[in-house]
Amino acid sequence: MAKSSSRYICQSCGASFNKWSGRCDACGNWNCLVEELVSVSPYSRHSAKTKSTSLTFANLNDQIDIPARLTTGIAEFDRVCGGGLVYGSVVLIGGDPGIGKSTLLLQVIVHLSNYFSDTDKAELLYISGEESIDQIQLRARRINLSKGKINLTTTSDVSSILKTLNQLNNIKVVIIDSIQTMYFDALDSAPGTVAQVRASAFELIQMAKQKGYVLILVGHVTKEGMIAGPKVLEHMVDCVLYFEGEQGHQYRILRTVKNRFGPTDEIGVFEMTSQGLQEVTNPSALFLTNRQQAVSGVVVFAGIEGTRPLLVEIQVLLSPSSLATPRRAVVGWDSGRLSMVVAVLEARCGINLGKYDIYLNIAGGLKIIEPAADLAVAMALLSSLNNKPVSLQSIIYGEVGLSGEIRMVHQAEYRLKEALKLGFTEAFTPSNPEGYKNRFNQEGLKIKEFTHIQDIVKLFIT
Ligand code: TYD
Ligand code: MG
Repeated sequence: MAKSSSRYICQSCGASFNKWSGRCDACGNWNCLVEELVSVSPYSRHSAKTKSTSLTFANLNDQIDIPARLTTGIAEFDRVCGGGLVYGSVVLIGGDPGIGKSTLLLQVIVHLSNYFSDTDKAELLYISGEESIDQIQLRARRINLSKGKINLTTTSDVSSILKTLNQLNNIKVVIIDSIQTMYFDALDSAPGTVAQVRASAFELIQMAKQKGYVLILVGHVTKEGMIAGPKVLEHMVDCVLYFEGEQGHQYRILRTVKNRFGPTDEIGVFEMTSQGLQEVTNPSALFLTNRQQAVSGVVVFAGIEGTRPLLVEIQVLLSPSSLATPRRAVVGWDSGRLSMVVAVLEARCGINLGKYDIYLNIAGGLKIIEPAADLAVAMALLSSLNNKPVSLQSIIYGEVGLSGEIRMVHQAEYRLKEALKLGFTEAFTPSNPEGYKNRFNQEGLKIKEFTHIQDIVKLFIT
């Protein structure tokens, strides 16, 4: 007989407490503790059944089988997964509602189905707890995927799913859309609570590992914390992808947050069209707006996202402030880093930006986290302040240190190559000991090296 007791569970981090309080002590969020009935958990059921055995140990250089990968043929998706989906692994795709997770996964599973012939008798299952079969069929028809040979069903009952999966042989891929809608009847708590999400995921993951198919879980992220976010799942799965995009932009970026089978910080770029999600193979062209003439405060930053160079436009606007504390509005970059660049310009070059409101925007809805963007931001600020445009043909990268020195950044050569490919003729960079400056100069990309931010300031004052 299951013993049940009541606990207060934080809906954003999953910590559990005996007493209610306004703030979760574990993650610091407010109003996120919800009372849940906790019966004997499936974990303890599981562990009670398994008898303890003595452990065996292995060496690092033992013979191993390299895990087989299942490539989807959607290159942007495969790269983000580290070269394809690994059998027996679990992938979690998080993202705001309506961003396109269901659309992406429908495309992925239909693409995969094309690789298996009828004789393979491969099972590709799409289990939805959110939409009706009609809705999914309609969507598939709209984006010309209705010929895909996949098995579609709708349910939110984890026990029935487990029973069905157990009976099927040769399962290749299972998609659960979404984990928040799943309900495991061994628990008393309501669907969507952390306990339910965690227990449902645990049971589904166990089955996937046991049978060796790819399990893809969809998780919603909500700011209110009412529905359990997939944060608690991140340590249970092998690969965590986030699907992001700005409201009002049609670009969607799939980002690796964690990957046990490949690199992280990789991105895949898609465009949401009336035909579903289309891959964007040349994202640099996408993030550079169609500029006819140079405008002050706008520069092109040569960045690296994962393993790929990406040129993006950084826009800065300064306007005289009437506020005691001027406004610093930053979209797509870290406002702390902006304050740092502003402070360095002030302390090391005597440039006072204190009486201006600063608006900084990364064009195209992209988020940049690299410190290599510092120099580009500094140039955009100086360009806007002096009302002197930076040439349309130049790209910029470099990290700015607190003493005003311009520091080298990684993968400089890739950045320069991408600039050359897209027809840029001038690059503002940190000084680099590697001897490729002449080579790029000869190929038509003039490299101007700088060691201190004061040298950059001089460009705008003279
Ligand atoms: P969806 O995949 O349902 O999002 P999620 O599963 O993340 O909640 O995507 C829904 C949005 O995508 C919806 O606002 C409509 C838009 N969309 C298109 O613009 N074109 C399309 O071809 C499809 C299928 C959806
Ligand atoms: Mg959906």
